[in-house]
Amino acid sequence: MEKREELYRGKAKSVYKTDDADRLILLFRNDTSAFDGKRIEQLDRKGMVNNKFNAFIMQKLEEAGVPTQFDRLLGDNEALVKKLEMIPVECVVRNYAAGSLVKRLGVEEGLQLSPSTFELFLKDDAKGDPFINESHVIAFGWASAENLATMKALSLKVNEVLSKLFDDAGLLLVDFKLEFGLFHGQIVLGDEFSPDGCRLWDKETRKKMDKDRFRQGLGDVIEAYEEVAARLGVPL
Ligand code: TMP
Repeated sequence: MEKREELYRGKAKSVYKTDDADRLILLFRNDTSAFDGKRIEQLDRKGMVNNKFNAFIMQKLEEAGVPTQFDRLLGDNEALVKKLEMIPVECVVRNYAAGSLVKRLGVEEGLQLSPSTFELFLKDDAKGDPFINESHVIAFGWASAENLATMKALSLKVNEVLSKLFDDAGLLLVDFKLEFGLFHGQIVLGDEFSPDGCRLWDKETRKKMDKDRFRQGLGDVIEAYEEVAARLGVPL
């Protein structure tokens, strides 16, 4: 597999072309961003931890029948993935109230949500990733009704699989964000699953073990990510 030119540079990952038109290389950097990129810092080991964490989770999801873009690890900071045509919509599933839901509705952080909620945001930092609904996705052509229904069903399936996985590791999966894309016409889970894009609380103490440690200046960000990885058995 030959690495070619950079195709795209995101806030935390860079994407490279390869000599295979159907494959890309994801480079997980140490850059850590919050507030739509308004705050960015380098955190030692973050790229490596998230790359390996993501590989572990994507393989678990694939085994459970969720199609993912993950192909294989190439090194500490790089993974080979399928080249998707990304859908510019973020799918958020919540099991407990936190973050923007608490701000928007004024509910108490930690309130259990039953059933779990499913929300959509437009992936557009300049607009602050605005909250949108299903009819916007279809009316503006970001995804077809059929593909959106698949994205929703897969998001809820991911919730089922990962809630159990984290529960067994003594962690609550509070909420998470997924991005999907098309691979030869099929909806496939893309981007990454790591503590950068979800909320994880210790089941007993409710200690925050995810990127909220960075957003809220709580310290020991990567130490928390590494503890989550160790509890799940992710080889680092
Ligand atoms: P929120 O509470 O800020 O809406 O975030 C919900 C979940 O989605 C949380 O686990 C963080 C994640 N998320 C991202 O990964 N990237 C984003 O740009 C946003 C807005 C949320």
